[in-house]
Amino acid sequence: MNPLAKIKNYYKLGKRLVKASTAQTADKKNILEIRAQFEKGKILATSNYYKDADKKNTLEINKKPTRTEIINYLIKQCNRDVTYLEIGVRNPADNFAKINAKKKYSVDPGVEFKENPVDFRMTSDAFFEKLNANEILSKDIKFDVIFIDGLHLAEQVDLDIINAINHIKDDGFIVLHDCNPPTEWHAREEYNYTLSPALGYWNGTTWKAFLKWRFESSLNSCCINADWGVGILSKTRNLGKSITNVNPFFEYKVMDANRQEYLNLIDFDRLKENLT
Ligand SMILES: C[S@@+](CC[C@H](N)C(=O)[O-])C[C@H]1O[C@@H](n2cnc3c(N)ncnc32)[C@H](O)[C@@H]1O
Repeated sequence: MNPLAKIKNYYKLGKRLVKASTAQTADKKNILEIRAQFEKGKILATSNYYKDADKKNTLEINKKPTRTEIINYLIKQCNRDVTYLEIGVRNPADNFAKINAKKKYSVDPGVEFKENPVDFRMTSDAFFEKLNANEILSKDIKFDVIFIDGLHLAEQVDLDIINAINHIKDDGFIVLHDCNPPTEWHAREEYNYTLSPALGYWNGTTWKAFLKWRFESSLNSCCINADWGVGILSKTRNLGKSITNVNPFFEYKVMDANRQEYLNLIDFDRLKENLT
């Protein structure tokens, strides 16, 4: 539904609210739900920040391909039986289960999905600590593809990248979700602040950690302009050259004005050209 249609819908719901609240048989839960939607509609209808973020949510949701397709494409490029690691899994049905890898390992402490059916029920820090101490798998293990999608705060993502670099094959790929937040509201630090114009959508500050590693001359990197920005790092693959540190304070607006260059934002077809 386009944003304007959505807003109109909220107003319709508002009218129903007025009717329902005067009706004797009105169900209270229904009234509360309609009221919440009506309030949201009022904000969307009057604030340009909300309207802009709403439009960008719709745009981003409709971009193709998905992170899953990109990861499976990278796995195919390895041209061998691969070992895949996913940090931050939530419901495996959304991505992990669809990954075509001979060997797959999953890590998640279970913050967002109660069932948490993963191989290692722990944080990424605990996983790498145990891995490096030879307590799980092997300290010498090297993965072909590592997907970092755990805690979306720059400091943690940075640690995940450092650990991933130590355990990725020379021609392997480190993939990061949520590197291209469409507005500052999506790039907020506080996940729970759902009154932000981005509403429930959240990319956190992953983009800062990704940008930091775009400055690293020993790595190649790019960000696919799909699925909220799929960042890719590699030691040897032709993804795109690093850049010099141009945004020392990691200001959102500086990145926003230069995101094409800073993130090396490219579409999926360009990635395919670069890798063949
Ligand atoms: C965005 S979800 C992952 C989505 C999944 N990768 C996908 O593509 O559908 C983030 C997950 O990271 C997990 N998480 C939170 N903190 C973490 C940490 N420190 N280490 C690893 N995972 C973490 C959460 O429990 C949550 O399940």
